[in-house]
Amino acid sequence: MAWRTAPPPADKEEAISENLESWNSMAHLHAQGSGAKFYRIDQWLAGESKLAPWEIEEMGSVGGKSLLHLQCHIGTDTLSWAREGAKVSGLDFSPNAIAEAERFAGILGIDDARFVVSRVSDAVEALAGEEFDIIYTGRGALCWLPDLGKWAQVCASLLKQDGMLYLEESTPMVNSLDVEEGPDGPRLFPKYDLFNMGPISEIGEGSYASTEADIERTTHCWEYRYDTIINALLENGFRIDFLNERDELFFAPWPEVFEPSRPNYWRLKEGHVPIPLSFTLRATRL
Ligand SMILES: C[S@@+](CC[C@H](N)C(=O)[O-])C[C@H]1O[C@@H](n2cnc3c(N)ncnc32)[C@H](O)[C@@H]1O
Repeated sequence: MAWRTAPPPADKEEAISENLESWNSMAHLHAQGSGAKFYRIDQWLAGESKLAPWEIEEMGSVGGKSLLHLQCHIGTDTLSWAREGAKVSGLDFSPNAIAEAERFAGILGIDDARFVVSRVSDAVEALAGEEFDIIYTGRGALCWLPDLGKWAQVCASLLKQDGMLYLEESTPMVNSLDVEEGPDGPRLFPKYDLFNMGPISEIGEGSYASTEADIERTTHCWEYRYDTIINALLENGFRIDFLNERDELFFAPWPEVFEPSRPNYWRLKEGHVPIPLSFTLRATRL
C-alpha cells in the first residue's frame, strides 16, 4: 500500500468526516469482498473466534456481563465476545460497518446483540446514559480519535463503578516506524514523531486487509504515546490494572517484514530484532 502525505485538514471536523468516508469505503470490502480473507470471515462464521487467547484470559469471565465494544467496525470481535457469553453492544461511526455487523448478528442468530451508529465523542447520548460492566476497544481504534481526554471521559461515563476497560493496541514504538530498503533487505526505521500532536494526514490506496483493493483514501490519525493514554485514564477516574506488551500484532503493516504467528496475528520475520508490537491494558473505573 503506497502512502503519500495529504494536505492537513482544515479542522478536526474535516479530519473526522474524511476518516468516516475512508471507513465507510472499507466496511463491505472487509465483510464480503477481498478483505474477508484477512478478517477470516469464513472461518469465523464457522465458529473460529476473533479474540486472542490472552484477551480471553486477561478479561476473565464475561458470562452474563454487559459489554460495549467501542469502534466495533464490522462486529466480528463484538460477536466473538457474545459467543463467550457477554450481552454485547457495538458502536461505530460508520453506517456501512454497523450494517455489516447487524447482518452478521442475523446470520449467527445472536438476536440480543445491539449495534449503534455514533461517534465515540457522542456515545453517552447515543446510548442514552446506559452503564456497562465492560468496555472493550482497540486494535487500531485510538489513533482515529482526536482527543484521548474526551475518550477517557466517555468511557468513564459509560462504565458502572468497578467496571472494566480493556484494550489492545499497537505499541507507540510500532506507530513511529516505517519500512525502507536497506543494504541487507527491508528494514524498519523511525519516521513518525510521536511528540508532534498530529494529525498525520496521508492518502493511500487499498486497505490493510486488502492491499490490492481499488480504493483511494485520505486519512488523518493521531498516534499516541503511553503517557497520553495512561494519563487520560488516570485523570478520568480509572485505576490501571496492568499493561502487557507482546511481539505479535493484529495486522501486518509491512508484509515484507512480517509473517503469520497464529490466526489473526503476525510477528517480525526471523533476522529482525524482536520489538514490542502490541499491548493490552486493563483499567478499572473507580
Ligand atoms: C480498525 S477498526 C477497529 C475495530 C476492530 N479491531 C476491527 O478491525 O474489526 C477502527 C474502527 O473505528 C471506527 N471509528 C473511527 N473513528 C471513529 C469515531 N470518531 N467514532 C466512532 N468510530 C470511529 C471506524 O469506523 C472503524 O470501524
